[in-house]
Amino acid sequence: MIIIKNEFDIKQMTIAGKITAQVLNMIKKYIVPGISTGEIDDICKDYIYNKKKIVSACFGYQGYPKYTCISKNNTVCHGIPSYKEKLKNGDIVNIDISIIKNGYFGDSSKMFFVGKCSNLAKKLCNITKKSLYESIKIVKHNLPLRKIGKKIQKIAEKNKFSIVREYCGHGIGKNFHEEPYVLHYDNHDNTILLKQGMIFTIEPMINAGKKDIYCEKDKWTIKTKDNSLSAQYEHTILVTQNGYKVLTLRKNEKIL
Ligand code: MF3
Ligand code: CO
Repeated sequence: MIIIKNEFDIKQMTIAGKITAQVLNMIKKYIVPGISTGEIDDICKDYIYNKKKIVSACFGYQGYPKYTCISKNNTVCHGIPSYKEKLKNGDIVNIDISIIKNGYFGDSSKMFFVGKCSNLAKKLCNITKKSLYESIKIVKHNLPLRKIGKKIQKIAEKNKFSIVREYCGHGIGKNFHEEPYVLHYDNHDNTILLKQGMIFTIEPMINAGKKDIYCEKDKWTIKTKDNSLSAQYEHTILVTQNGYKVLTLRKNEKIL
């Protein structure tokens, strides 16, 4: 069942989305060579709990032990922050922020460049961001859900990159994950149409090499099988009559 949000829900989700965006803006200046992902997690935790007086949606979720997910280079998603994992020049890193405010969830992630990165790393991130933005731009009332994945697939594959199949975007509200599940490729299912008042994430994970992944022994960290680079961008989106609203849009961010 897909939950259609009412005016009050939308107001609360707007607040939750804004705080999520603020965390990603706040952390940018700390992403430099030498910092550990554990320290980055500590800074986000302090901001979420002590400055915003709210909680992380990650901590304790199915036993997850940290407050953010930080996924570097060949890590696709759900990287567990660690003081042993230090960033170095040329790394690309996804920081995924999920929070709960007044019982409502916010969820967003983006890539950060550590120092000077390779042309391939920059292209992978830019194409992944573009696939998210272009798929957001077609969102409106009555659009078949599959068109979102179709758009992402077209952009990724035109650039000879591959799309991770095991994870998808998701409805979000008073639940972290709910229907609809938003695939990042075309499944040719025309039965689900977007409706005004739906809220969901779009969060493509795109690999520079093959689409295959595996899970580390820690039961969380997902990596590319061929060790190729992987990138992800995620926003929380509200469907409106004439289009969309990006609830996790950051200050100075434009959906171009
Ligand atoms: N933030 C992820 C998502 O986009 C979920 C992470 S669950 C965690 O849905 F437990 F790993 F944090
Ligand atoms: Co998500």
